[in-house]
Amino acid sequence: MASLTKVAEPNELAPGDKKLVEIDGRAIALFNVEGSFHAIDDICTHDGGPLAEGELFGREIMCPRHGARFDVVTGRPLCMPAVEPVAVHLVELRPDGVYVAIED
Ligand code: FES
Repeated sequence: MASLTKVAEPNELAPGDKKLVEIDGRAIALFNVEGSFHAIDDICTHDGGPLAEGELFGREIMCPRHGARFDVVTGRPLCMPAVEPVAVHLVELRPDGVYVAIED
């Protein structure tokens, strides 16, 4: 099982905020959606766009490159031009911070 890595302080991200983090050289986009934290790969499955640089609408992130949207909770693509889901990672909120475990 993947180990957890601390990526943010407990109150660092307000609801609607996002943050780019790196775990073992892998870029991960972290989101606070109405108080619950979610993490996905920071690579759009359409053409590699940096998802953490996109706009967050509720639980949807819009790729800044060509406008594909993904559900940050499930990783599911919600509109073209993306058709493949983006990888979702386990997030744990602990008293001392937000932790993420990346899956291979
Ligand atoms: S790279 Fe994300 S929509 Fe094209």
